[in-house]
Amino acid sequence: MNPKPEPLCVEDFERLAEDRLERVAWDYYRSGAWGETTVAANRSAWTRLWLRPRCAVDVSARDPSTDLLGYRLPCPLLVAPTALHRMAHPEGEVATARGAGDRGVPLVLSSLSTCTVEEVAAVARSPLWMQIYVSQDRGFTRALAQRAQAAGCRGLMVTVDTPVWGVRERDIHNGFRVPDGMRMANLERPGAPTGHAGRGIGEALGWTIDASLTWKDLEALRSAVQIPVLVKGVLRGDDAVRAIDHGASGVVVSNHGGRQLDGALPTAEALPEVVAALAGRAPVIVDGGIRRGIDILRALAMGAAAVQVGRPVLWGLAADGAQGVSRVLGMLQAEFSLAMALAGCRSVAEVTPDLLHRSPGTLAHF
Ligand code: FNR
Ligand code: LAC
Repeated sequence: MNPKPEPLCVEDFERLAEDRLERVAWDYYRSGAWGETTVAANRSAWTRLWLRPRCAVDVSARDPSTDLLGYRLPCPLLVAPTALHRMAHPEGEVATARGAGDRGVPLVLSSLSTCTVEEVAAVARSPLWMQIYVSQDRGFTRALAQRAQAAGCRGLMVTVDTPVWGVRERDIHNGFRVPDGMRMANLERPGAPTGHAGRGIGEALGWTIDASLTWKDLEALRSAVQIPVLVKGVLRGDDAVRAIDHGASGVVVSNHGGRQLDGALPTAEALPEVVAALAGRAPVIVDGGIRRGIDILRALAMGAAAVQVGRPVLWGLAADGAQGVSRVLGMLQAEFSLAMALAGCRSVAEVTPDLLHRSPGTLAHF
């Protein structure tokens, strides 16, 4: 038998992860809501954006680094918050932080992590942020935000696209819940549910979110901490403006990787309207379907300040722990640098809108 070929790209890690993971974990990570149309569209929307490379530019020296909210990043790339990393690897988010640290990539830790924010902060060598779900217990959510700040998190990302959980039918079929032996490490307190009962995220983790969340909650969180607060899950220009008007330092254009409202537009299509509406007032980050360095270039050409990847990090983690995370992020960084060269860009500032072939209809607001 031939040995397994060496993974060369992020999607090679997807196949490795599929081989490694138990069915329940694999389905939880890959799934989307209802018919999963938005999951597929997130990916295909990036690939529809054709590029107009510049030629005969001296690209022998290139600088893919960028500034984001006062930090110099080696590449405009962050790890998106994703829940339950111990389903992928026994070391969970601690391994993810080590892998991200290897590459200098900021990690946004999920509220629903299986290691505590303090455990992760203790090993973090790249900027650590924390994602916040606003639960019915506003006092607890506020305390969690302050706890993240005290642990050394450099910012918060408040998720606003989960008034209720999207319905992921694979999870319901599989009886998904927080597996025995794992805990919602940041959310433990006397009398709180644990997530060990129920079928699917709606039943198991309904208590972690709250349908009455509004912009007022964003203001309350912002005034509870001194670190910047970003809003994650915006798909419209008007909402992006509201987020900034209510104190956010930036927004994340995201449809939660297609896991919330199936049928929500792909993020590559939503990005231009948000960029135009904010007109440089605050940075715009985008996630959903980013699988190649060339997708980072596409997003930046459309005005994003940086991108995030969710599932690719889980694939790396499942395949090979911290080392797998490091390899996946390293591949994206290397591809981005090559994409810059092939497009004739020496710096991130040179990744400008004229690199995109604008096809009317696909990019209505661009
Ligand atoms: C997520 N996402 C997410 N978002 C968030 O704000 N808090 C969370 O805890 C999670 N958990 C989570 C778990 C899993 C398994 C996935 C796949 C996604 C959404 C995530 O931050 C991001 O928006 C998407 O994953 C981006 O899409 P890609 O890169 O996975 O295509
Ligand atoms: C998810 C939650 C945890 O998408 O954000 O599964």
